[in-house]
Amino acid sequence: MIDTLLKDYGIKLESRLDILLSENGQLYDEVVRACRYSVLGGGKRIRPILLLEFYKLCGGDDDCAYNFACALEMIHSYSLVHDDLPCMDNDDMRRGKPSCHKQFGECTALLCGDSLLTEAFSVASKTLGIPSERVVRAITHLASSAGVAGMIGGQVIDMCDNTESDDDVLFEMYRLKTGALLKTACAIGAILAGADDEQIAAAESFGEKVGVAFQIIDDILDFQGDSKTLGKPVGSDEKNNKDTIAVRLGLEYCRELAKKYTDEAYEILSNFDGDTTVLKELATYLLERNY
Ligand code: IPE
Ligand code: IPE
Ligand code: MG
Ligand code: MG
Ligand code: MG
Repeated sequence: MIDTLLKDYGIKLESRLDILLSENGQLYDEVVRACRYSVLGGGKRIRPILLLEFYKLCGGDDDCAYNFACALEMIHSYSLVHDDLPCMDNDDMRRGKPSCHKQFGECTALLCGDSLLTEAFSVASKTLGIPSERVVRAITHLASSAGVAGMIGGQVIDMCDNTESDDDVLFEMYRLKTGALLKTACAIGAILAGADDEQIAAAESFGEKVGVAFQIIDDILDFQGDSKTLGKPVGSDEKNNKDTIAVRLGLEYCRELAKKYTDEAYEILSNFDGDTTVLKELATYLLERNY
């Protein structure tokens, strides 16, 4: 069931993103091509799917949140383009093809990231059919999660030498660099559907737990995954002398830890009255994934 769901969501998101990122015959179309290359035709689309599932769970029963879901995927995709740059992780493969800077050069890749980030806010602001107060609140949430107090902050910590840092610093880095966007995905779904503050907080909490588990698994896969299946290099962390929780505490222990976070996320779903089966299955899929 989860495979069909992911596939169906994937098709709908892809066609919406395709329209949102169309070339328009301008002199600067090269950057649009880089955006299309980086966003279309790959990725698990987990953040927009979480957004749409929380929207549904909290009572949204239409397609109005799709634009916002695409905006979030654009921000995530920009974070990957910049994350792969030589000045950051210096990785040559992403989503099964050469990284953006390998295909288009560093300058275009940098501008592609800038462009996806900026355009994402334009796309999010064009969310129609949902009261504008909710849209504004969701945009504010997105901005702070993607910014310094969220994903960017996590990337900054990631770029430091953490070999002497406490484990807590690494967990904080996971909460920020990865947890923040997953948390905002769930919260935005709830906000757009008009959920109350308690439900929004529960959605945030679910997203953060799943987010930390997600990064722990990502680090395990970087250590022992298969690069063809992953669509990105393995051994990137080791190459960059990054001390990850997986390596520091051991892979088996970390699998258990990711499961513990996922179990805590399941528990949080009991705060919702609706059917949470799909969200549970999504969390399980993220825990058990090999790509
Ligand atoms: C990769 O995210 C970056 C991390 C936060 C670990 P995903 O594993 O969701 O990447 P795609 O979107 O499926 O390519
Ligand atoms: C990703 O962390 C964090 C981002 C915000 C992009 P990683 O650097 O581990 O992600 P991958 O392994 O390159 O996808
Ligand atoms: Mg990185
Ligand atoms: Mg990386
Ligand atoms: Mg990684």
